[in-house]
Amino acid sequence: MKIVRSIAKMQELSRQTRSAGLTVGFVPTMGYLHDGHVSLIRLARESANVVVVSIFVNPTQFNSADDFTNYPRDEKTDEALLEEEGVDILFLPDAADVYPQGAATRVAVSGLTDYLCGAFRPGHFEGVATVVAALLNMVLPDVAVFGRKDFQQIQIVRRMVRDLHFGVTIVEGATSRERDGLARSSRNARLCAAERAVAGAIYAALSAGAQEYGRGQRSVSVLKQAALRRIEQAPGFRVEYLEVVDPDAIKPVDNADERSVMAIAAWLGPVRLIDNVTLADQALAVTEGTSTGAQSPAANTAIPTHSGV
Ligand code: PAJ
Repeated sequence: MKIVRSIAKMQELSRQTRSAGLTVGFVPTMGYLHDGHVSLIRLARESANVVVVSIFVNPTQFNSADDFTNYPRDEKTDEALLEEEGVDILFLPDAADVYPQGAATRVAVSGLTDYLCGAFRPGHFEGVATVVAALLNMVLPDVAVFGRKDFQQIQIVRRMVRDLHFGVTIVEGATSRERDGLARSSRNARLCAAERAVAGAIYAALSAGAQEYGRGQRSVSVLKQAALRRIEQAPGFRVEYLEVVDPDAIKPVDNADERSVMAIAAWLGPVRLIDNVTLADQALAVTEGTSTGAQSPAANTAIPTHSGV
């Protein structure tokens, strides 16, 4: 695995790859890698010849200096994991190169940021869209893979790529989950044992909402009540939002249909957890009893990552 820090070198490698008739698949990350990231890397491998993974903890998408400072980092373990996965290039740009002196350009995808995380994290998605645009220009991939876990993020990236004609194909990876349904996240490492023991309730709540949908209920207020009842059974959660939205507009709806997405953000101790499901798909998964493992093949594989994640 090549480790590349220089942006010019990264662009050159990408151009050489394409001149050789090969394609580049890209997985942008902020590191502290877990099985969810690994599932995206495997998708990139299926979609392209050369796989590039970036690790860059992007300062402009954090809402507080504390969150940025406390974001978990472990470059050595990440490097070993990527080597093991057969990743071709690990791209580790420096913040000073990503944001050169006097950098003044920001990418804002309007409309899609009014609800869900956008409403509670001012500026967050501008930071994400700006860095993703910059990373795409640094890596020049044919295909870029993003996770469904960050639903609003992938929808924003898709819209930006379309609107600004990036000429890259965006591939979506399913949410990789722990046994109890908790969506894998680098931030899960900050849950204490007692919090971790109840954290699966967030997914159980979405499943309860979906189950109601499966019974024919379409009223969003009733679907939300079902989900909230479930999460209230678990101690310690503070729900930030629970919404049912249209997936393209990311706007709340009053009545759910087969495309509607139920999304939640909830605090558990110091950690803000997010998750989402398409109600109709999840209703089917719940009925078939495949609501955790079947969502992601990677959820069933044991890949050594950071302990406790
Ligand atoms: P990060 O949180 O490291 O996530 C990197 C990618 O992994 C994102 O596309 C995210 O959606 C995906 N991912 C995280 N947890 C997942 C899970 N449990 N199952 C499937 N995919 C999962 O998201 C970011 O970094 C940053 O915002 C970034 C896009 C790199 C821009 O800075």
